[in-house]
Amino acid sequence: MSDILEVKDLVVSYGKIKAVKGISFTVGEGEVVSLIGTNGAGKTTTLRTISGLLRPTSGSIRFRGQDLTKVAPHDIVSLGLAHSPEGRRIFPKLSVEENLMLGAFSRKDKGIRADLDAAFELFPILQERRAQPAGTFSGGEQQMLAMGRAMMSKPQLLMLDEPSMGLSPLMMKRIMTTVTTLQEQGTTILLVEQNAQAALKRATKGYVLEVGTIVLSGTGSELLASDDVRKAYLGED
Ligand SMILES: Nc1ncnc2c1ncn2[C@@H]1O[C@H](COP(=O)(O)OP(=O)(O)OP(=O)(O)O)[C@@H](O)[C@H]1O
Ligand SMILES: [Mg+2]
Repeated sequence: MSDILEVKDLVVSYGKIKAVKGISFTVGEGEVVSLIGTNGAGKTTTLRTISGLLRPTSGSIRFRGQDLTKVAPHDIVSLGLAHSPEGRRIFPKLSVEENLMLGAFSRKDKGIRADLDAAFELFPILQERRAQPAGTFSGGEQQMLAMGRAMMSKPQLLMLDEPSMGLSPLMMKRIMTTVTTLQEQGTTILLVEQNAQAALKRATKGYVLEVGTIVLSGTGSELLASDDVRKAYLGED
C-alpha cells in the first residue's frame, strides 16, 4: 500500500510550549488510520498543522510526496486534503446547502452538482433540510453537515476531528458507519477520536498519542487487544 500522507518528526509549538513533540506516522492509500489520545494529547494540533492552519516548528508533512509545510491552507484543500474540524464549525446563519457549497470553494470543475447529490445520498436529511439555517441543526445533524461539507472538496484524504463528540450512541454509530462507507467509496481517512473503541474497530492502523508523543501503534485490532489501551482508553481494570 503506497502512503498518501507521511508525517515525519513533526514538532508543533504554541509559543514556548511544545504541543506535538516529534511524531511520525503514515497513512496509506485507502486506509482508515485512527489517532487516539486523551484531552490535550495534541490530536487537533496535528490535524491543524497538516491542514496548514498551524506551521510546524520542525519536521515534514508529505502528501503524495509533496511537502505541505509551506503550502497555503486553501491550496492544501485543492491538492485533495479535507478537514472536518473539531466542534464542526458550520456557519449557523447560512443554509445547509450554502454550508455544503462552501466545501467546494476551491473547485472550478463541473462535478460539483454531482457531489452535492452524493452528499445528499450519504445523509438524506441534508437534502430534506437544505434550505434550513444550519444553526438550527442538532449536534448529530451538524456533524453530518460538517462531513458532507468536507466531502464537497472531493478529497483523496479526509481528516475527521472527533466526529463522535457529544453524540448519542445511535448517532455515533451512524457517523462511524459513514466512515466505512466513505472508505469503501475510495476516500482515505485520518480519524481523530477520544472514543478509542469506535475508532480502532474501523481502523486499518492506529496510533496512540500521549502529551505530544506517539506511545503505541499497531493495527486497529492489535491496539484494541492491548492491555495498555484497554486500561487507559477503554476504562477497563
Ligand atoms: N491556541 C493554543 N494556544 C496555546 N496552547 C494551545 C493552543 N491550542 C492547544 N494548545 C495546547 O496544546 C496541547 C494540545 O492541544 P490539542 O487541542 O491539540 O489536543 P487534543 O488532543 O486535540 O485534545 P482534545 O481531545 O481535548 O481535543 C494542549 O496542552 C493545549 O492546551
Ligand atoms: Mg482536539
